[in-house]
Amino acid sequence: MARMVVVLNGPNLNMLGTRQPQIYGTTTLADIEARIRDRAGAHTIDITFFQSNHEGALIDRIQEVGPTADGVIINPGAFTHYSYAIRDALAMVPCPIIELHLSNIHARESFRHTSVIAPVASGQIVGMGWRGYLIALDYLAMLFDADAEGEPR
Ligand code: DQA
Repeated sequence: MARMVVVLNGPNLNMLGTRQPQIYGTTTLADIEARIRDRAGAHTIDITFFQSNHEGALIDRIQEVGPTADGVIINPGAFTHYSYAIRDALAMVPCPIIELHLSNIHARESFRHTSVIAPVASGQIVGMGWRGYLIALDYLAMLFDADAEGEPR
């Protein structure tokens, strides 16, 4: 059975393409989603996308899909730096969670150096632009293949 990966994007990521392109690039979220969908097809992974500018909407979605997802890729946007509520929602999710940032948050303003999400994530991908989403998906595909082969994670 195909594995299911949820890709969540937080506030202002709907503006990719025009939002500070010198930092976030010129690729739109729709373009990124199309590239993820292509890659997921090659891995025979089912993908669900969700973007919201609202903390509660993201939490509702995490609660809905978290129990059945096989992997989560989340760019929480600015919520990364202060949303204990999103962190708590993710803490209930049993599958691997990849925290992703297009920019290198560690090389930017000091308030971006802290992630309250990182302690509940399996790992973090930063500074690799839109390609980071594909790297996260490839990583999850490797985990799923390892499971299918009965190899240790
Ligand atoms: C971001 C980094 C955050 O600090 C910022 O608030 C964003 C985008 C990134 O993808 O680089 O909205 O998560």
